[in-house]
Order: sequence, then structure tokens, then C-alpha cells
Amino acid sequence: MILVTGGAGFIGANFVLDWIEATGEPVVNLDALTYAGNLANLKSLAQDSRHIFVQGDIGDRPLVDKLLKDHQPRAIVHFAAESHVDRSIHGPGAFIQTNVNGTFTLLEAARGHWMSLQGSAKDAFRFHHVSTDEVYGSLKPTDPPFTETHPYEPNSPYSASKAASDHMVRAWHHTYGLPVITTNCSNNYGPYHFPEKLIPLMIVNALAGKPLPVYGDGMQVRDWLYVKDHCSAIREVLARGKVGETYNIGGWNEKPNIEIVKTICGLLDELRPDAGGSYARHITYVTDRPGHDRRYAIDARKLERELGWKPAETFETGIRKTVQWYLDNAEWVSQVQSGAYREWVARNYADRSTA
Ligand code: NAD
Ligand code: DAU
Repeated sequence: MILVTGGAGFIGANFVLDWIEATGEPVVNLDALTYAGNLANLKSLAQDSRHIFVQGDIGDRPLVDKLLKDHQPRAIVHFAAESHVDRSIHGPGAFIQTNVNGTFTLLEAARGHWMSLQGSAKDAFRFHHVSTDEVYGSLKPTDPPFTETHPYEPNSPYSASKAASDHMVRAWHHTYGLPVITTNCSNNYGPYHFPEKLIPLMIVNALAGKPLPVYGDGMQVRDWLYVKDHCSAIREVLARGKVGETYNIGGWNEKPNIEIVKTICGLLDELRPDAGGSYARHITYVTDRPGHDRRYAIDARKLERELGWKPAETFETGIRKTVQWYLDNAEWVSQVQSGAYREWVARNYADRSTA
């Protein structure tokens, strides 16, 4: 079996669902269930003995040691993190705690477990660290996309904490020989995406007739990858990636934010027409994110060249599926819009005057 951390969050839950469907191999899922973790994402596995859910913190060393001893996983896939840039600006402490200290504790526990293994079990063990393209910093409009050797230049408390975790993972391999692999992925989107991030926020706000808050001039560029493609890439890297290597994962879909928002409005106009007119009438330019990175772009050719991985979805197919998913899952949306969610929205958008 494998141990997944953060498997009740957006990407982690998609990964657990995808993993069990694709491989049938059992998963121990360690997740603290912060505001971003949601067991409703894993409802379809409620009666499935191949999914063992444990609520707990990656920073709890006795708990992690016990899970490793009891279940003897052949790999750890580490998703657990504080993941939202805007939240890291309002409160960086939790990001240092989980992304830096938590990853440190997990690495130490993994090292202890790996040292206790013998022979082929020791050779086969992997620590797969799930990271982000944000560690590379911001690109100018004509710069080539990030390769795996691009210097680290993190610009937000979130990306700095992820960069720190990447460096520790590298060092645990270099110093102790821990068999690690790191993947750095671009912006994901798809089912179960918590509606504080751009794409789900725009969908749920549009449907509620609320403003669609575009930061700054809306010309910041991100590369977008459908979440199931990220899951298939991790499966591939876990199976055949080289120990000690890093792999970039991306969708070859560079788009400015305003284009994303207009695309979502266009799809909603088609799939759920509003008598009041196009959803685009709700687009509102608001004060920019401090330190906002202008452009990310991923060069994913290493993964294609070495492991033959390519995304299955184009942006056009992926975004259509995503909008449809939110239309079909109104109950999930209303459940995640709890008091805590409403407090966050009030906090993040209250002091952003419309530009
Ligand atoms: P998310 O915020 O949706 O989920 C994070 C999960 O981790 C939640 O279930 C939460 O409860 C859990 N968690 C948080 N702190 C924990 C702790 N101390 N112990 C145990 N569990 C804890 O995040 P996501 O968008 O699914 O991202 C998952 C990973 O992928 C993160 O490491 C993130 O940096 C990385 N990543 C995300 C994206 C993206 O576009 N979302 C892109 C590239 C990389
Ligand atoms: O690049 C990978 C990263 O993508 C991951 O490492 C992070 O975990 C993930 O959250 C995501 O970070 P971003 O900051 O790019 O995602 P977010 O959805 O918050 O914002 C995407 C873009 O949209 C960004 O340029 C900011 C802008 N934005 C966001 C929100 C929430 C808006 O214009 N308005 C908004 O209300």
C-alpha cells in the first residue's frame, strides 16, 4: 500500500480516487482536515476497505511513525500543505508550520522507516514530494518556460515555504540517501477544487450573481492543468521516475486570468443561461495581490521525453468538464461554503477597493 498525505484536499482527493481506480492498491490517507480538507470529496470510497482515512497532522511524529510501522507503505506521496497564496499573505505562520516543519517531520519519519527496511523493499521505497511551479518565481513575457534547472526565486510566503520543503527533500536524498522524487506542477483545476481559488470562485460567484473579482489588470499568466492529468503524471513518476530527480508537470496552457474568467462566463452562458444577460457583466477589477507573480509557464518536456507522459485534456475540454461538474454538484458547493469560508471571503475581498 501507499501512504498519501493531504488526501482529503483538492488534488490529494482526486489522486486517491484515481489511484484506487487505476491500480486497486490500498491507500492510507493522513489528513488534518483543515478548512481545505473535506471527506465529502472521498464519499465514493466510504465503504471501500482499500481506503483507510486517518485524521492527523504530518507534524505529529509519533502518529506518523505508528502509521509507517503498522502499514509498511512502499511509498509516501506528500500532498499535505497550506496551498493558498492569498492566505499566506494574511497569515504566513501556518505555512511555515505545515509546509516547512511538517515536511521536516515527515522526512525524518520516512527516513527512519526506510532505514528499517531490507533488500528489495528498501530499494523500492519512494518519497514523492508534490510541489509547485511557484518556487521558480515570475517570468517576463518573452522568457522561456521554467525547466527543472531554473533557479529558485519564490516570491510569496507560500512559495517560499514550498521552496524550503523542496530543498529539504533534496538534502535528505543527497545526505541520507532517502529515495525521493519531486514534481513541480502548474495550476490545477477540476472537480473538488475549493472555491477560494480562481476557477471555482468564478464559477460559484457567477452562479450566485456575485462580482467576479479580477486582481489588478487580469493579465497575469498561469499554465493550467486538468487535475486528473496531474494524478496520472504522479502515477507515472512514482512507477518509473528516477530517484533524486525532479520533474516539471504542466499542461502547455498559458492563459491570462481575464481570458480564463471570460471563458468560464461563456460556458455558463451556454450551459446555464441567465435571463439578466451574460455572466461577464459581473467581472469586477479589484486591487491586486501584493507581490503578484506576473507569469508562470512550465516546460514539461523532460517528463514527456523520459517517461512518455502527456496531458490527456486540452484546456477547452478540461474547463468544460469542470464547469459542468460544478453545475452538477451544487450540494458539494453549498456544503463547502461554511461560515469559515464566508469569513475568508469577507477578509480577502473587503479591503480590495474596485479598481
Ligand atoms: P489543498 O489546500 O486543497 O489541500 C491540502 C490538504 O492538506 C487538505 O486536505 C488539508 O486538510 C491537508 N493538510 C493541511 N495541513 C496539514 C497537516 N499539517 N497535516 C496533514 N494534512 C494537512 O491543496 P491542493 O491544491 O490539493 O494542493 C496539494 C499539494 O499540491 C500542495 O502541496 C500544493 O503545494 C501542491 N500544488 C498545488 C497546485 C494547485 O494548483 N492547487 C499546483 C501545484 C502544486
Ligand atoms: O502555480 C501553482 C499554484 O497555483 C499552486 O502551487 C497553488 O497551491 C495554487 O493555489 C495556485 O496558486 P495561484 O496563486 O496561481 O492560484 P489562485 O487560484 O489563487 O490564483 C490564480 C490567479 O488568479 C492568480 O494570478 C491570482 C488571480 N486571482 C485569484 C483569485 C482568488 C484573481 O484575479 N482573483 C481572485 O479572486
